[in-house]
Amino acid sequence: MNQEMSQTLTQTGPGTPMGELLRRYWVPVVASKEVAEPDGPQVRVQIMSEKLIVFRDTSGTVGVVNEFCSHRGVSLFFARNEEHGLRCAYHGVKFDRNGKCVDIPSAPQMCEKMNIKAYPCVEKAGLVWAYMGPKDQMPEPPELEWCLVPEDHVFISRRLQQSNFLQAMEGGIDTAHVSYVHRYEVDRDPMHVGTEALKYIKADGNVIFTIEQTDFGLTLYGRRNADEDHYYWRITQWIFPWYTLIPPFGHHALGGHLWVPVDDHNCMAWSINFYPDKPLSAQEVKDMSEGKGIHVKYESPTSFRPEQNIDNDYLIDRKAQKSKESYSGVFGISMQDASLQESMGVIQNHAEEKLLPTDKAIVMARRMMYDTAKQLQTVTQLPARDVRSHHVRAAGVILPKTQDPISWAKENLAGGLDHPLHTI
Ligand code: FES
Ligand SMILES: [Fe+2]
Repeated sequence: MNQEMSQTLTQTGPGTPMGELLRRYWVPVVASKEVAEPDGPQVRVQIMSEKLIVFRDTSGTVGVVNEFCSHRGVSLFFARNEEHGLRCAYHGVKFDRNGKCVDIPSAPQMCEKMNIKAYPCVEKAGLVWAYMGPKDQMPEPPELEWCLVPEDHVFISRRLQQSNFLQAMEGGIDTAHVSYVHRYEVDRDPMHVGTEALKYIKADGNVIFTIEQTDFGLTLYGRRNADEDHYYWRITQWIFPWYTLIPPFGHHALGGHLWVPVDDHNCMAWSINFYPDKPLSAQEVKDMSEGKGIHVKYESPTSFRPEQNIDNDYLIDRKAQKSKESYSGVFGISMQDASLQESMGVIQNHAEEKLLPTDKAIVMARRMMYDTAKQLQTVTQLPARDVRSHHVRAAGVILPKTQDPISWAKENLAGGLDHPLHTI
């Protein structure tokens, strides 16, 4: 990938082509429980290089506003959250959840000039979402399946990844790597163990991809050998611009991810598990809270930085690598991914990469994002902005060799969420 395309895809600050494109979609900002209490402590976040404050006001409504006071730039992290707004601790200037300046004790007549930026927000799937794009372009909030199920059916965590969002997300559409880096972990992990899928994933590391471009993004059909007459297909959905739905493993909860740029060198990786039709068990919630499956343990209880991180080489265990307890020596599915993706450098040197046939999905996703970003002003219908297109599922399925997976998926995965699950 040339430098111009690499920069376009990886730079997401305000005013950049990719930044402007991503701002046309709702962005998860924090979990609702992080700002649980009306007038409780506000939270600092950074999204696409913009520093923001999230708070719940006296009425119980959440606001997402610029972090800094319009007076002399003090962080509103130190403000008082009281009586329907944030009051800057320095000289008492106060802002409501819409960014409107509602009080200046020393000069009330100046209020009108002192407003700060605020973004529309909604709460859905236990997350606070913001819309940071032009108001007249605001789509409906997302309708991925995990956004629609009852609260006790879904578990969501987030972790800081010290790399650009692109290389993190590309791991999610690269199902070839499952046969390698996660090879031994999946035999122990409670969210993957004991499924037929693993047999085929391990036996055939040579995935052959068919990729279909759709109105929501890409459907990736990864083919492995099953038996003489059948293939095992892992069908991953990539929903524009940053979601993946992971092909399921047997009876375990369904999974997905999304990757949101914090700045150009960091991203927030959100990991989701859910059942369409039943609550997660207490054991599953315990396992996920302890960092199992696609979740992680944190460096400290309030940090979203994993305990295994670049400063400690992700606690790599060379003995475990030799004895085949862990393929790379790093433990944990998400940390196996994150360690390798961070090891590329904060922004991978795309000029030096030499892509392989298994990277077809990555090439198509990059092209789709690049072209859409470049044509943002002229394109009439952006991918996945019609939320009905979110109503798709991933699948893991054995099909006769003669069966075309694309027509199978049209019948069994598309056009709504009322189909049976396809998982082995
Ligand atoms: S800097 Fe905020 S009130 Fe003065
Ligand atoms: Fe992975």
